[in-house]
Amino acid sequence: MREQPGFFEVVYTTRALRRFRPDPVPDEVLFQLLDAAIRAPSGQNAQDWRFIIVRDRTVKERMQTWALQAWERYAQRFPDIDSLPRTQRLSLRAVEHLASHFAEVPVVIVVCGLRGRHTTPGGSIFPAVQNLLLAARALGLGGSIFNLALGDREALRQLLGIPDTNEIFCALPLGYPSDRHGPVRRKPVKNVTFLERWGRRWPFAEAQPDEGWQGRWLQP
Ligand SMILES: Cc1cc2nc3c(=O)[nH]c(=O)nc-3n(C[C@H](O)[C@H](O)[C@H](O)COP(=O)(O)O)c2cc1C
Repeated sequence: MREQPGFFEVVYTTRALRRFRPDPVPDEVLFQLLDAAIRAPSGQNAQDWRFIIVRDRTVKERMQTWALQAWERYAQRFPDIDSLPRTQRLSLRAVEHLASHFAEVPVVIVVCGLRGRHTTPGGSIFPAVQNLLLAARALGLGGSIFNLALGDREALRQLLGIPDTNEIFCALPLGYPSDRHGPVRRKPVKNVTFLERWGRRWPFAEAQPDEGWQGRWLQP
């Protein structure tokens, strides 16, 4: 078995993966992901995140219907996907694939949190979500946030018995991926960071390569 990747390799290579092998995700693996998720910070340490593990085919089929409807609306923005640059084309094809095969995803985690509990909505949920996705990548699984499958949320709330006190923040399809993790493409630090005040460039970042320091952590 491959040695587990180190922290920075995980951070630099955790892609949104949207194609899965049919292999089930055992409970002991799922528990590790959730046990990593709940180590995240939350406002006032409220820990009001709630995770629903969904393996039920009927529920996933409903979510697939919503995902396909949302995909069809979204895809109208791209009348000719095949003529798009490679990375954009591959990513859109992967979204389409997941929307069309959502019911086959081994496990979906629906993430909820108390409505109106925090002044920064989602700020006390997504740190846990990212912990979970990084833990998944470290253990050889893949996944992504896939909110196309949430539909109008109200129907999903009823389907899963989620109380009104809770908001649905995201759906995380997970499994052993048939696509590969690899370096994520992001804007360079210098393009998104200012020194002391808005708009002032940071010379140290300007002197770094556009791809950042991934070369320090990834095998060539
Ligand atoms: C709040 C949030 C919502 C997202 N919703 C979706 C979604 O509905 N469908 C989807 O395919 N990806 C979704 N994503 C994943 C992003 O599209 C993806 O992480 C981004 O394009 C970068 O891709 P990469 O991580 O593979 O580099 C979402 C991500 C976030 C943070």
